[in-house]
Amino acid sequence: LKTQVGIVGGGPAGLMLSHLLSKAGVENIVIEKRDHETIRNTHRAGILEAGSVRMLTETGINGRVLTEGHRHDGIDLRFNGVSHRIDFPSLVGESVWLYPQNEVFVDLAAARERDGGDVRYSVSDTEVLDQTTATPKIRFTDANGERFEIHTEILVGADGSQGICKWSIPGEERTDNFIEYPFAWFGILTEAPPSAPELIYANSEHGFALISQRNEHVQRMYFQCDPDEDASAWTEEQIWDELQKRVDGPDGFQLKRGPIFEQMVLKFRSYVCEPLRYGNMYLVGDAGHTVPPTGAKGLNLAFNDVRVLFAAIEKFYAEQDSSLLDSYSDDALERIWKAQNFSYWMTSMLHTRKDATPFEIKRALGELNTVVNSEHGKAYLAEGYTGWPTK
Ligand code: DHB
Repeated sequence: LKTQVGIVGGGPAGLMLSHLLSKAGVENIVIEKRDHETIRNTHRAGILEAGSVRMLTETGINGRVLTEGHRHDGIDLRFNGVSHRIDFPSLVGESVWLYPQNEVFVDLAAARERDGGDVRYSVSDTEVLDQTTATPKIRFTDANGERFEIHTEILVGADGSQGICKWSIPGEERTDNFIEYPFAWFGILTEAPPSAPELIYANSEHGFALISQRNEHVQRMYFQCDPDEDASAWTEEQIWDELQKRVDGPDGFQLKRGPIFEQMVLKFRSYVCEPLRYGNMYLVGDAGHTVPPTGAKGLNLAFNDVRVLFAAIEKFYAEQDSSLLDSYSDDALERIWKAQNFSYWMTSMLHTRKDATPFEIKRALGELNTVVNSEHGKAYLAEGYTGWPTK
């Protein structure tokens, strides 16, 4: 097989890049180790920046984000049991959309199928090689057990945080920047009406909680837990009591309970691979960097990488000019480090370490008070949450 751009990974980043390249007349093939059903049922975050929504709606995905998604004009920062609303449009003139990542995948996969995109699911034994030559190669076994080799001109690693592309870069050619956190999130999906119209990010003496939504009948919620927590060990009642404790306050706010049909522990870490390039291989999305989930930045950051890399590849083929490819890593890293900072900031301000001293706990509350009592503080948060303007 031969193509111009070979993409390892058919999640949202890989499929969005494939869609944009095909529209621009650049040949590409996507391979993905999971099957369509598995990705469709992998529940991830649910918040899209306005810029990510525009990428879906203005490039002909015909996604359902505008009809099935929900525009959110703010979030609620809750601490000491008191809610403080951050109103995005009045602060920064933008909003976000609640639209789950697995639905973004469904829309992108459908658009690729509609447009005749070459996407191969359920592949195995994938290898990448010859990245520093003019013909990087991808080897894989397809769903029928047949072995293939794709000769590419540009190879893109969009294979997520557990992917192979990043690890194919020799250790001396890459810097791994990372930190681990002493906590994780316990996440649930429940069949219940919404408890609140917008997301609630709660800091409490019992730890962090996030009250999110999906639609009128299904809700998504999380609470801070230990990284080695066993999700299956919790009863529904224990989970609800734990969530409720973290949002309790003098206003008497009560979560609306319902049957829990999914419960899992999400580990988190911050990681950035530098540079995001090795020869003619480029990394996008979680394949090159991961953020903790608190700022809802993961998918949005991946789409930004795709936007930057697509412009670079388009220029390369249209004008035989590789200048944007050469600056891809630096250009993408600028926003990646902003988002790393934002996610780290939201995480540390809202979570409580087990060994936190009273000083540290009160300092975080001082920080939250600084934010919610200042137009500048609220605008700083709103700008990061809705997504900084692109250049
Ligand atoms: C959701 C997940 C997040 O990490 C976040 O910051 C906001 C919302 C969600 O799943 O709805």
